[in-house]
Amino acid sequence: MIKSLKPAASLFGTVQLPGDKSISHRYAMLAAIAEGTSVIENFAASRDCHSTLDCLQSLGAEVQERGTTVTIKGRGLRGLKAPGRVLDAGNSGTTIRLLSGILAGHPFESVITGDESLSNRPMGRIIRPLRQMGAAIESRERELPPLRIRGGSLKGIRYSLPVASAQVKSCVLLAGLYGDAPTAVEETVPTRDHSEIALREFGAAVRLNGNWIEVDPEPKLQGRNLSVPADLSGAAFFLVAAALIPNAELYLPGVGLNKRRRELLDYLKRAGMNLTVENETEIGGEPRGDLRARHSPELLQRQLPPIQGELVASLIDEIPVLAVLGSQVAGGLTISDANELRVKESDRISAIVQNLRAMGAEVEEKPDGLVISTARRLHGADIATRNDHRIAMAFAVAALAARDETRIHDAECADVSFPGFWDALQKAAFFGGQGMRL
Ligand code: S3P
Repeated sequence: MIKSLKPAASLFGTVQLPGDKSISHRYAMLAAIAEGTSVIENFAASRDCHSTLDCLQSLGAEVQERGTTVTIKGRGLRGLKAPGRVLDAGNSGTTIRLLSGILAGHPFESVITGDESLSNRPMGRIIRPLRQMGAAIESRERELPPLRIRGGSLKGIRYSLPVASAQVKSCVLLAGLYGDAPTAVEETVPTRDHSEIALREFGAAVRLNGNWIEVDPEPKLQGRNLSVPADLSGAAFFLVAAALIPNAELYLPGVGLNKRRRELLDYLKRAGMNLTVENETEIGGEPRGDLRARHSPELLQRQLPPIQGELVASLIDEIPVLAVLGSQVAGGLTISDANELRVKESDRISAIVQNLRAMGAEVEEKPDGLVISTARRLHGADIATRNDHRIAMAFAVAALAARDETRIHDAECADVSFPGFWDALQKAAFFGGQGMRL
């Protein structure tokens, strides 16, 4: 599907975002290995989180969906059953990497795979610690999926993460539930801590000691009633659009403000954005609040703070849309230390550079990032999304700020994290005539 977008004259209203993808995955997986029933409200409607639900069903968990409320009858810590088929994680790195940690604790053999993009993403980062713990894991060449996993009782290990990745950290912590002793993971760069928070909510013992996170084995996980906040990474597209488009004002209610992810808001405010957070509360250990974002002409006169070092992990999923913003601020933006972007749903450095250039921006590609030295007015172009949801949505934002029409190819890939994105954009944007069409 191609979406054609015209420049937006303005942007206004309330945007209802889907539930947070990272939190939804974790709640569903923990609910499946807990005792009793969990009811999860505002579960992410995303395709990725449905991949997780499908896998959990194949493993014997009873899953019921009513709208965005998901009810899961857990099977207990060691109660999952051998799947009668290959588990399909679709496009979802979080599904394959986190679920592998749980599968490693079960004595049956399972095979987990994914779509073309996922089948080319590195799994050595989880294979190595899971093997150290005693699981038998085979993969395709170069440690790529499918993964064939046979586990059982594991050894508790102490593991220093070689790469800043919440998925790897979470995989090892989940496998740690099946250890013969506590398992500890060291992260030198902080990453999102949704797993630590969710594990505690379900009743596991998680301790923090400096950079080390330690989990006790054999917890009694108990089903819970939980509610998922709206997805801050989905909000990012609307925040940047609001900053760019004249007279824009958007209200985004109930957005997750996890301390390891809200750096996005501090970053945008540091950059000069007109952005406020209202009505902050905390539910299930996860903070949330309402965001109000307005057009920010001062920001456009400046330079965006460089994205480098630890900031890369905090902003990892927002970098595509921040690069679009960087192309429209007078002093540009430099991104470095972001090699991880090359192994996301697509090579995001290459996809950003290719598409920004197609729209008339001046961008220099670096092995670990990119440099935009100055702003150039963007023009409409054909956007090659590479079937990557965040590239499609980032360039939809670029299209709103560009001259003439932009065509986003394979636009349905937005469903991976944000079904309803195109409708939400259509509703908020004022195009002055027919602005968007299939
Ligand atoms: C995620 C962690 C990040 C992020 C992804 C979701 C998670 O991946 O990019 O979208 O839910 O743990 P990495 O752990 O590979 O950095």
